[in-house]
Amino acid sequence: MGRRRRAISSRLLIRLGALCVAIGLACLAIGALAPMATSTRVRLVAAALFALGVAAVPAAIVARRNLRQLQSSVASVGASARAAAATTAAVTRPVETPFEAEVRADVKALRARLDRLDRNSTQRRDALYRQTESLIGLYVELYSDAHSLPHFRKWAIAPDLALHLAQLVRRTAPDLVVETGSGSSTVVLARALERNGRGHVVALEHNEQFARATQQMLVDHGLAHRATVQHCPLVDVEVDGEVMSWYDVSALSLPRMIDLMLVDGPPAATGPQARRPVLSALGPWLRAGTTVVLDDMSRADEVAIVEGWVARGLVTDVERLPFEKGVAQMVVSDVHAGTPPPDR
Ligand SMILES: C[S@@+](CC[C@H](N)C(=O)[O-])C[C@H]1O[C@@H](n2cnc3c(N)ncnc32)[C@H](O)[C@@H]1O
Repeated sequence: MGRRRRAISSRLLIRLGALCVAIGLACLAIGALAPMATSTRVRLVAAALFALGVAAVPAAIVARRNLRQLQSSVASVGASARAAAATTAAVTRPVETPFEAEVRADVKALRARLDRLDRNSTQRRDALYRQTESLIGLYVELYSDAHSLPHFRKWAIAPDLALHLAQLVRRTAPDLVVETGSGSSTVVLARALERNGRGHVVALEHNEQFARATQQMLVDHGLAHRATVQHCPLVDVEVDGEVMSWYDVSALSLPRMIDLMLVDGPPAATGPQARRPVLSALGPWLRAGTTVVLDDMSRADEVAIVEGWVARGLVTDVERLPFEKGVAQMVVSDVHAGTPPPDR
């Protein structure tokens, strides 16, 4: 029973007792004044009511006083328990000494300083790299008939992958190379094919501005006849029942099956596992044995893409190349050999 209900019932008891006393007294008075008019039963009931009221009022008063005492005891026990809990918490909480506080502040300051140093050293390394690259390019431009290469930092493939691609093209002499994501890599592949004296690159590029920039680089390097930059905006494609964003290849026409694929687009920012659709979207032009090189294996998304392809038997002979950005090289399996496109 709640405190309020208990108080109400004790108050009610007092009032009922008082009422009984009043009625009893009234009946007794009537009985005394008009003894003939009242029956013995009525006088007995009046006496009983009077007795009940007289007994109930002091009992209710005592009960009410006891209840109040009990309530104040409960409240003081609660306050003591709260005080005890607060004391326990204060005692068990580790108290930081001034020395420990100083060490903590020092560690925080050192961490912030290390972060700044890390950012600065990355900026300096990139700047030094750029200057070295430019110096090599300058020697090439001024003291040979060759062209200096475009820059290889940030968005572009790293030089270790560029060298690997140049060697791969020299060794395997592909006739058709397709890459997703154009840029410096397009120039490298086109130049490598030019040295072989055969082959063509088709670069799929979703961004019109970058498509034009890559096309201009090819012209500047005298390689426009070795490569085609195809502007393919990103559209919704269905891959394994899932809608993803990938290059619009509905108007793409390739002259033959693909020998070598460089997968370096679309950018990760366009969606999770953005490069996964490549095998199904270009399926008609893939043959058993087509070599696929996937950049950016240092990212979890690319690792998951390759694991998925392997699990579904789409690729075999997966090799992880220990390059700066992480690279995986693999071959398309027999199972996934594409059906010839209608225009072949
Ligand atoms: C990983 S990049 C492809 C780079 C290309 N394979 C190369 O080696 O230069 C993927 C996409 O990023 C975009 N991109 C290229 N250069 C960029 C830049 N400097 N800033 C922002 N986006 C860029 C292009 O749309 C490109 O297709």
